[in-house]
Amino acid sequence: MPISNGDAAPGSAMKAEIEDYTKALEVLETYTTRDGLDVDTLIDSDKHGALTYNDFLVLPGYIGFPASDVTLDTPVTKRISLKVPLLSSPMDTVTEHNMAIHMALLGGLGVIHHNCSPEDQAEMVRKVKRYENGFILDPVVLSPKATVGEAKELKAKWGFGGFPVTEDGSLRSKLIGMVTSRDIQFHPNNEDPVTAIMATDLVTAPAGTTLAEANDVLRQSKKGKLPIVDTNGNLVSLLSRSDLMKNLYYPLASKLPHSKQLICSAAIGTREEDKHRLKLLVEAGLDIVNLDSSQGNSLYQIEMIKYVKKTFPEIDVIAGNVVTREQAASLIAAGADGLRIGMGSGSACITQEVMACGRPQAAAVRSVSSFAARFGVPCIADGGIQNVGHIVKGLAMGASTVMMGGLLAGTTESPGEYYVSNEGLLVKAYRGMGSIAAMEDRKAGGSAKDSKASNAGTARYFSEKASVLVAQGVAGSVVDRGSVTKFIPYLVAGVQHSLQEIGTQSVAALHEAVNNGTVRFEMRSASAMAEGNVHDLHSYDKKLYA
Ligand code: IMP
Repeated sequence: MPISNGDAAPGSAMKAEIEDYTKALEVLETYTTRDGLDVDTLIDSDKHGALTYNDFLVLPGYIGFPASDVTLDTPVTKRISLKVPLLSSPMDTVTEHNMAIHMALLGGLGVIHHNCSPEDQAEMVRKVKRYENGFILDPVVLSPKATVGEAKELKAKWGFGGFPVTEDGSLRSKLIGMVTSRDIQFHPNNEDPVTAIMATDLVTAPAGTTLAEANDVLRQSKKGKLPIVDTNGNLVSLLSRSDLMKNLYYPLASKLPHSKQLICSAAIGTREEDKHRLKLLVEAGLDIVNLDSSQGNSLYQIEMIKYVKKTFPEIDVIAGNVVTREQAASLIAAGADGLRIGMGSGSACITQEVMACGRPQAAAVRSVSSFAARFGVPCIADGGIQNVGHIVKGLAMGASTVMMGGLLAGTTESPGEYYVSNEGLLVKAYRGMGSIAAMEDRKAGGSAKDSKASNAGTARYFSEKASVLVAQGVAGSVVDRGSVTKFIPYLVAGVQHSLQEIGTQSVAALHEAVNNGTVRFEMRSASAMAEGNVHDLHSYDKKLYA
């Protein structure tokens, strides 16, 4: 299909115009159309079929600011915003508590999967919510009768040591000592009571101390933890030195304005039993629930949205997945606070092949997010993200955030162990949640990696309880990508550089410039795509960041 790039200048005048370089801007003014296509023309599938990310490019704009001045703040739901527009998928090879903690620390959000028992999932939520606090309002407290062995078990369970000991082993009881990791680490006799090894020369701060004052006391003391006590010496809360350090190192961390805790999101299904699961998640501190379904426009999901909004009005609901305006309208009408867009674009997904349903991702994101924007409902472009350019294209199509599975599954923070592939590469398992392996695990009792699942996870594919399991995904592996603490900052810097090239200084500015036609696009042919990739080299090393 020929694509017009604007009016050509008349032949004789053209030479003179080009020679007179200083007149370039004046000549540009005489053109009646701009280079490239506006977004609606680009996405108009009547002309060329529905597009996905690789089918087009964004034309560069004007650079008037450094890349470091590009801000990426963006809403993930109607009420909650992030500083980084990146989410990790609710998949059992991608997001458990460790990924959720690190995604949130880095300014994004990890959605904890539900291919495990409700109790295991709630425990993961609790770990995220406890991870970083200003004042820890519900610290783990030991009784004087607790043994060193029990303290070691608690350290292994929670991942931190440093427990206050109070007279009756609970909060609001008299503080009598502190047990630190170092006290218990090499203590040979697990049967000894913690009172035999606890420190009693305590530095404390009085209740009512501000966070800034308490931080000062902690900084000056040589201690790892600062217990906060009332006038009678009863423990009321705890401040942690490592939290202080984390606050310094993670300035973008995703937190609600009134809270020092990380924002936590988790996925559930839309069956009746998911209501019990949700209750446990909310009790554990959940902020955002993600209704996880491959086809979100269902009676079950609409009823679940209404149930959540009525029963837990403080919880935001991300609904989905959808790829059409019609699907989106049902979920928005039911009260969705955010939408997840994508069907069949995921790297481990065979939905389009098996179900004949789905939509190329760029078309889906544009269609749904331009509709949802009219109701102030932010959208997540979910699946098919292979590189920084795809993130930018998802945002340019109107998504507020982008969700990744395969791209993050090879990081240190994803569940599971690395192993060496037959080709000698370091890899980690990655599987679609609609793969036979994942669905069988769901039937058998879940797959939480760090705890023993006690009953099954919930359905995403309406197929898990059927006698024949119909796969919508595959199980495979992805290569090692190192830690998200390096990888996410690389993605963020890449998006900042890209927005600089485009000439927009924020995600909101990008949306506006796309919608008003300032940001232009161009289709690319297969040979243009080949040209845009590395070519004609004998060999090369594709190192993406340093
Ligand atoms: P990726 O980032 O391209 O790997 O895609 C991740 C997304 O694929 C997830 O967030 C889900 O929306 C989707 N997904 C996960 N498992 C399956 C599956 O088994 N079939 C189809 N889509 C899946």
